[in-house]
Amino acid sequence: MKYNIENNINNFYKNYNCIIIEFYTDNNSSQEEFLKKNNFVEIKKKYKFKGKINTHLIINNYKSNYINDILIIGCGKKKKINTEKFNKILKYTIKLIKNNKYKKILFSLNNIYIKNLKWRISKTINYFEEKNYFFDKFKKEKNKKKNIYINFLIKEKYNNIKNIIKEQIIICNGIKKSKNLCNTPSNICNSEYIYNKTKKNINNKNIYISCLKEKDIKKLKMNSYLSVGKGSKNPPLITIIKYKGSKNNNDKPIVLVGKGVTFDSGGLSIKTCNNMWEMKYDMSGASVIYGLMYIISKLNIKLNIIGILACSENMIDKNSTRPGDIVKTLSKKTVEIINTDAEGRLLLCDVLTYVEKFNPMYVIDIATLTGACVVALGEKISGLLSNNKELSKMIIKSGQKTKDYIWELPLFKKYNKLIHSKIADIKNCTDNSYAGAITAACFLSNFTKNYKWAHIDIAGTAYNEKGSTGRPINLLFEFIKKIEKINNLNKIHK
Ligand code: BES
Ligand code: MG
Ligand code: ZN
Repeated sequence: MKYNIENNINNFYKNYNCIIIEFYTDNNSSQEEFLKKNNFVEIKKKYKFKGKINTHLIINNYKSNYINDILIIGCGKKKKINTEKFNKILKYTIKLIKNNKYKKILFSLNNIYIKNLKWRISKTINYFEEKNYFFDKFKKEKNKKKNIYINFLIKEKYNNIKNIIKEQIIICNGIKKSKNLCNTPSNICNSEYIYNKTKKNINNKNIYISCLKEKDIKKLKMNSYLSVGKGSKNPPLITIIKYKGSKNNNDKPIVLVGKGVTFDSGGLSIKTCNNMWEMKYDMSGASVIYGLMYIISKLNIKLNIIGILACSENMIDKNSTRPGDIVKTLSKKTVEIINTDAEGRLLLCDVLTYVEKFNPMYVIDIATLTGACVVALGEKISGLLSNNKELSKMIIKSGQKTKDYIWELPLFKKYNKLIHSKIADIKNCTDNSYAGAITAACFLSNFTKNYKWAHIDIAGTAYNEKGSTGRPINLLFEFIKKIEKINNLNKIHK
């Protein structure tokens, strides 16, 4: 789809097949000028159209000599409009657009009295793009992608609306890129593939991409990290994406770490075959950071941000790590690996130690870490655990604003004793599965004591029956913009 703005309603007859107008059951007094009040009375009487939600009316060839339709969408009661209803209206509208094969559409959006026009436009683009996403790279017959032009009817002279549209398209493209990477199966998408894709697709100015290969990881003594990939023929690889957006090079960076297990068989603590194929999505955290860094660099965010894709593959082989093995982490703490299927934390703990060298403002890791998080919060809500109240508050708010829902679980210190090991400093999981999302975060918290840290468990939200969801890119981008704003204000007041 292509999006733009239209200031002149008179162009409707010449340039568009269809105009979409919102219509309420009760009060339509301030509708588009060209459909004067009496027309609406007429519509109600003549067509017996009431304007209820999930109903519509099409008036064909509204003006003789021109072929264009007026598509009137029921919006229910004017005062009862809210974001849920707005979504319903969008859902209904996109179906109509597709069914009627309209190509050039003028969308009013002026009469939905919710938030502001910018918000409505962003949401609409986001929604339409999401509904229009297909992962058909591996299909012989591709989905036919029609070019549909949607122009928003802007009454006022909003110069910045064009920028809003541009920005939203970039965000949607980032989400699409993230989904494409995440949906690519593990026989193709391995650690090196992710590195190559990153170099190819995130190549804006201010971006510096490097990697740590297996030999570098060895040299650094990130033995916990290495232990995960020992059974795989695809070597582990850490992709580091540095973005310098702040004028001051010394500004502390925000560090984002994504779990990138390109396939999680469980290792020798093998998973059952039920849905094991879904573990190709175990690199969702990495693909989220990849999409997000694309967006950040394209939109010239004025912060220093480092994205780390912590990639490896958890497989079974004579070289695989065994349950009971002990490894020495980068932090020098030793870990007894009770269960090789708790591999995400083995990667993350070493990366979370490694990132100390960046002197970070905040560190956030994003990981499909525990099945327990899915049990606790289901498939619509991501889990959040943090060692810093101010940080977790900002993340929660960003989730609320974007409806990319997240819920905080307690980082309950007393549960640390559940991961005490008799023969090492710590073990990688507890004896039972109680509070698994919390105890996993407790494990990580042993490696994040020197900075403000949050952990986002996306095991439930990262993918669904349709594939990768791209979550929580919207939340994280909102968070980044918030920090950018705060930073900017602080600089002005200095
Ligand atoms: N990748 C899984 C977590 C997961 C489960 C993601 C379901 C998406 C959907 C993770 O590596 C894992 O296997 N975790 C174990 C930990 C346990 C062994 C302590 C789990 O959740 O069962
Ligand atoms: Mg696992
Ligand atoms: Zn995993």
